[in-house]
Amino acid sequence: MKIVDASTPEAMANRPRFHSALRETSPVARSADGEYYLVAGFENVKAVLENHEHFSKSWGSQLAPMEHLIALNQDPPAFNEFKRLYNAYMSPAGVKRWARDCERIANEVIDGFEGSGSGDLQELFGKPVPAKVTARALGFPEDRVDTYRRWTDTFLDAIIRAPDVQKRVMDEIYAFFDEQFDFKRQQLRDAGIESPNREHVGTVIDDSLTSVLLTATYHGRYLTNEELRRTVRGFFIGGVDTTGALMLNTLQHLLARPHLWEQVKESPDLVENAIEETLRIDPPAIGMFRGATRDVEMAGEVIPQNSRVLFSVLSANRDPDMFEDPDEFRLDRRDGKRHIAFGTGAHFCPGAWTARMEAAIALRIFIRRLPKLRLVGPVEYFPTINFLIVRRFPAAWD
Ligand code: HEM
Repeated sequence: MKIVDASTPEAMANRPRFHSALRETSPVARSADGEYYLVAGFENVKAVLENHEHFSKSWGSQLAPMEHLIALNQDPPAFNEFKRLYNAYMSPAGVKRWARDCERIANEVIDGFEGSGSGDLQELFGKPVPAKVTARALGFPEDRVDTYRRWTDTFLDAIIRAPDVQKRVMDEIYAFFDEQFDFKRQQLRDAGIESPNREHVGTVIDDSLTSVLLTATYHGRYLTNEELRRTVRGFFIGGVDTTGALMLNTLQHLLARPHLWEQVKESPDLVENAIEETLRIDPPAIGMFRGATRDVEMAGEVIPQNSRVLFSVLSANRDPDMFEDPDEFRLDRRDGKRHIAFGTGAHFCPGAWTARMEAAIALRIFIRRLPKLRLVGPVEYFPTINFLIVRRFPAAWD
């Protein structure tokens, strides 16, 4: 089996080339550090994501195993019941409840930096907008955005360097979550409610995902604090850097093609096509992990039992068997929606509709208010093997 290294400066400098080469020459490969196997190509990746008996999420979807078989870290069929707790709330129709908040937040954030004429858009826009929208969706105070950013940055840092770094902030995050749960439970008690249910969401306690999870029953009981913490953490961490990267990567693709930038300014609805095409060509989550439950044969190789497996979303999204001229950024694709930037199967990203709506609203406002945006230096990315997250986006505007 071929040995490959996704962490070399060359691989990091051109991730699409690295992942396409994998797909073309060694769709099942082993990492140079011996820590995991890589799977590339649309059909192979889909097979990993849809075969829960061979590839399990029971230890989470990052390289370092997380807590086992609880909340989001479960496989079907048990997981199917768990995700019913939030699926309808996070659906395309459901997330519209946050459309006004997305507009307000995007405008407020832009008000804060518009006058400065130049700066790092990751710092000014890519981080604060999703952090505030996530806070709103979870019913957390929006004004603690600096704290939230410190937490999400630590997680990113941990993915890059050492998984145990995240343990240091985990206690802090969980203490904050517990405070939020207790606050809502107290509001329910103050209203004399002992057995809360969905009717109390948006009436006695705020209309947020945390309230939905607090009042839902699962196997005939309420979620435990452990289940609540870990589920809320998934939503809290999952949506900030990814959505920020989606917005900035979309801007970058448009700025690199001035005729498309002009087209989108003239027809703002095209921003949705630009977002979808960015998700396909530069997915913020390049890949995630599963655990092999047994020896699995794939593409003529054997992935051994108990190994971690990185499925390459990037290689799948640029697979020429699925997409015409896959390396070309186009606003008029017919095959574009087949991409798997949000995964596929049981663990399809439950934040997909929030991310799409938030990015579309925020970018429409951004492009209207800063039509003379330009890049003034190279865009930098964090050196992670499985995320494409912007570190610096130096820009100027009039
Ligand atoms: C552009 C933005 C986003 C991208 C590219 C993205 C990508 C992904 C991918 C690929 C997965 C599947 C992981 C797997 O199968 O192991 C996932 C799962 C998840 N995402 Fe997102 N995501 C985005 C935004 C969000 C947002 C805004 C939220 C929260 C509102 C969110 C919350 C989650 C959660 C909780 C999971 C775990 C689901 C599960 O394991 O069943 N994501 N995301």
